[in-house]
Amino acid sequence: MKVIIRDDAKTASVWAARHIVAKINAKAARTSEPFILGLCTGSTPIDTYAELIKLCKAGEVSFRNVITFNMDEYVGLPESHPESYHSFMFRYLFDHIDIPRENIHILNGNAPDLAAECAAYEKAIEKAGGFDFFLGGIGEDGHIAFNEPFSPLNSRTRVVTLTEDTRIVNSRFFDNDMNQVPKQALSVGVATVTDSREVVILAFGPKKARAIKDAVEGPFSHVCTVSALQNHQNGIIVCDEAAAGELKVNSYKYFKAVEAAEKF
Ligand code: PGA
Repeated sequence: MKVIIRDDAKTASVWAARHIVAKINAKAARTSEPFILGLCTGSTPIDTYAELIKLCKAGEVSFRNVITFNMDEYVGLPESHPESYHSFMFRYLFDHIDIPRENIHILNGNAPDLAAECAAYEKAIEKAGGFDFFLGGIGEDGHIAFNEPFSPLNSRTRVVTLTEDTRIVNSRFFDNDMNQVPKQALSVGVATVTDSREVVILAFGPKKARAIKDAVEGPFSHVCTVSALQNHQNGIIVCDEAAAGELKVNSYKYFKAVEAAEKF
């Protein structure tokens, strides 16, 4: 695992977007195969998406040969609800880039058979060739996608029950009323994410500092599901100074030195 630390969320987001663009363009230069991209929602990726839109409009990247799969969706929330992850993705990214509609995949939290929906999603990812790149966030409790603490680290896409903590945190999008936050979601599993050939996790602000400390310095454990990235060959956590605030000084210095030496 590598950790990239930037002064603030804005510069970290620009780094992440440019990194994704470089990966899309590198694959396009060597093959006509599509680039398979996993995407997340939440407050954290918004600036990264804004930068991707800017780069697409500037002609520095095209999403015509990119296939996306989002990591999760609430169960029972209408797709048209402004806080559904369907709405989020079109509002902050898809409506503003050149991706064909048929290349976009988001779990259907209103499917009549949720287990079948999840199984079909895993199959579709596999059929597409598996993820080249997964962009994720991290919950205050260390969750990756909606893999709450104690989710198996070998989990696959499935129905999950959200913790009360996550529903309280997400109530900021639902009139600060946790009763409006769905109790369940469909989520890719931890292993669905870590199977990706590269994973980049964004974490900004002091509220993420404990989760980053647990993910980077804590044990490889289902208690903090992002810790699964410790076993990944191409896993990068991109954070701002605030989210890195609880790392030990030695860890902080080490990751800065690695970045300076390897210039990634
Ligand atoms: P946030 O959510 O970006 O809104 O903080 C991240 C997450 O819960 O994974």
